[in-house]
Amino acid sequence: MGELLQGINLQNVPNHIAIIMDGNGRWAKGKGMQRVFGHKNALTAVREAVAGASDIGAKFITLYAFSTENWNRPKLEVDALMSLLVSSLKKELPGFQENGIKINSIGNTEQLPKKAQKVLAEVIDATKDNTTITLTFALSYGAREEIVNAIKNISKKVVNNELDIEKINEKIINNHLYTFNLPDVDLMIRTSGEQRISNFLLWQMAYAELYFTEVLWPDFRREHLFEAIINYQNRERRFGKTSEQVTENE
Ligand code: IPE
Ligand code: IPE
Ligand code: MG
Repeated sequence: MGELLQGINLQNVPNHIAIIMDGNGRWAKGKGMQRVFGHKNALTAVREAVAGASDIGAKFITLYAFSTENWNRPKLEVDALMSLLVSSLKKELPGFQENGIKINSIGNTEQLPKKAQKVLAEVIDATKDNTTITLTFALSYGAREEIVNAIKNISKKVVNNELDIEKINEKIINNHLYTFNLPDVDLMIRTSGEQRISNFLLWQMAYAELYFTEVLWPDFRREHLFEAIINYQNRERRFGKTSEQVTENE
């Protein structure tokens, strides 16, 4: 792991890393266990990913923990995920404080059970002055729903004459998303071999580098994050320009 860390150029670290934590169910199945066993064993991976991101100086990490579509899973699994959310947030709070981790959430969190909303609000408040890294949990999150909400809120302002239609631009749209206080995603990682976005941060990933790994989420460790970072650093982010233009400006 130390070697991998040494291979990372600390001047070119993704500022915002987003992760689709996938494969808990398959991990458990592979061990002859129920799906929920996989979710229970996902916490170490969360800790490792956040610690790794922090080690390299990334300022934002966003984890997809529960999608709007995940509400359609069997009630038993949804309930288990919700109670794991509550117990994990409580358990991790001292660690968040110790490591300067500021907690944030995106998504339609009003749909979460009251208990989860309460603990989440408490943890967000307790960690609000931490500055090492911002850890955002996407909970009951769907990018399309987020965009629909933004359009509704912007439209209300237009109707109330608070906003001129001609003034609507990318910045205004940004400011109406759940992620109004987060920068664009630089690197998106998905575990478990699936190569899709699954309604995650559609607007914010417009120019993100995408990285897919076969590792199942409960097995994800700092070294896997570092591999993704090294892969990212070997790419050229051109943002529409030519390779020559990009190299000239370096
Ligand atoms: C990701 O693992 C966790 C959540 C979506 C909550 P999955 O539960 O999707 O695991 P697989 O994809 O079925 O293996
Ligand atoms: C995406 O994973 C959502 C989270 C990781 C929370 P899923 O496992 O729900 O995605 P699909 O349905 O396979 O695309
Ligand atoms: Mg899955």
